[in-house]
Amino acid sequence: PKLTAISVPFDLGAACRGASQGPEAIMQAGLLQSLGILGFTDIQTAEVALHPGGVKPLSAQTDTANLHYLAEIAALNSKLAEQVSRAVQQGRFPLVLGGDHSIAIGSIAGLARHYRKLGVIWIDAHSDLNTAKTSPSGNIHGMSLAVSLGLGHPLLTDLLQIRPKIRPEHVVLIGSRSLDEGEKKLIRSLGIKCYTMYDIDRKGMAVVMQEAINYLKDRTDGVHLSYDVDSLDPMEAPGTGTAVKGGLLFREAFLAVEMLCESGIVTSAEFVEVNPLLDRENTTSELTAGLICSLMGDAIL
Ligand code: ARG
Ligand code: MN
Ligand code: MN
Ligand code: MN
Repeated sequence: PKLTAISVPFDLGAACRGASQGPEAIMQAGLLQSLGILGFTDIQTAEVALHPGGVKPLSAQTDTANLHYLAEIAALNSKLAEQVSRAVQQGRFPLVLGGDHSIAIGSIAGLARHYRKLGVIWIDAHSDLNTAKTSPSGNIHGMSLAVSLGLGHPLLTDLLQIRPKIRPEHVVLIGSRSLDEGEKKLIRSLGIKCYTMYDIDRKGMAVVMQEAINYLKDRTDGVHLSYDVDSLDPMEAPGTGTAVKGGLLFREAFLAVEMLCESGIVTSAEFVEVNPLLDRENTTSELTAGLICSLMGDAIL
C-alpha cells in the first residue's frame, strides 16, 4: 500500500498556540518506522505550511467579523487541498497530520475533487459546525465541518470551486459532548447522524461503530476519517487545546479505528489537535501514533 503522510504545522485556527508542533511530535513517536513494520514500503512525506521554513511575519492576524485569521486559513487550506488531491491522483492514501482542526477544510476540499459522494466520520468532542454568526469564539477550527457542508465565508467554502464539498447525509459525528446551541440546531435541521457520549455509553462503542460503518458503506464512494484527539478523555489525551471531560477511553478509541480498519471503508484520514506544549510525557502524541497504526492495520493478526 502507498501512503503520503502530509504534515501541517498550523495552529491559527485554534485559540491557543502549540498544535503546530503536533506533526513533529507524532513523527517523533516513531510513526513512519511503525508503518514500515506494518508493510508500508512506499511512504512519501510532505509538508504544507503557510511559511515554509517556519518564518512567520510579525503581525499575521487578519480578523474579519468573528473569523480569526481568515486569510491565513484560506491560504493554508488551498495549499493543503492541492497536496491531498495530488496524493489521491497518484493512488496514495492521504494521511494528514495536524495541526488544529481548521485544516479539515483543506483535506476535505482536496478529496471532494475525487469523491462525489464523500463520507466523513468526525470523531470529536465538538462538532465544529459553527459559522461566524453562531461561533462563541471566532476560532475557525470550530467551523471546519460547517465550511465543508457549504456554510460559512466564501473564502473557505468555495475552495477549489466546489461547494458544498460534502452532504449532511454523508456525515457521522462520534464522541460529541460539547455542542454550542447553533450547532445543535444545525445537527437537527440537517439531520446529521450524531453519536454523542450518551449514545456510546448506552449502546457501547462496538454497536455505534458498526452502525456508522453500515450507514456510510452503501451511500458513499469514499470515507474520510477526521480524528480530533480531544474526542479522548483528557486522562488519556491531555495534550490538546480544548479538552472536555467525559470522553472516549483508551480501549474505546482504539476499538473505533480497529473496526474502521477491518471494514475497509476508509480512504483517507487526518489526526488533529495534538498540542505537545500541553502534553504530559508525550502521552498524546504516542497515543495518536498508535491510533494511526491501528487504523492502518496494526490490530489485524
Ligand atoms: N465550539 C467551540 C468553538 O466554536 C470549540 C471548538 C473546538 N474545536 C476543535 N476543533 N477543537 O469555539
Ligand atoms: Mn474538532
Ligand atoms: Mn474538538
Ligand atoms: Mn479570539
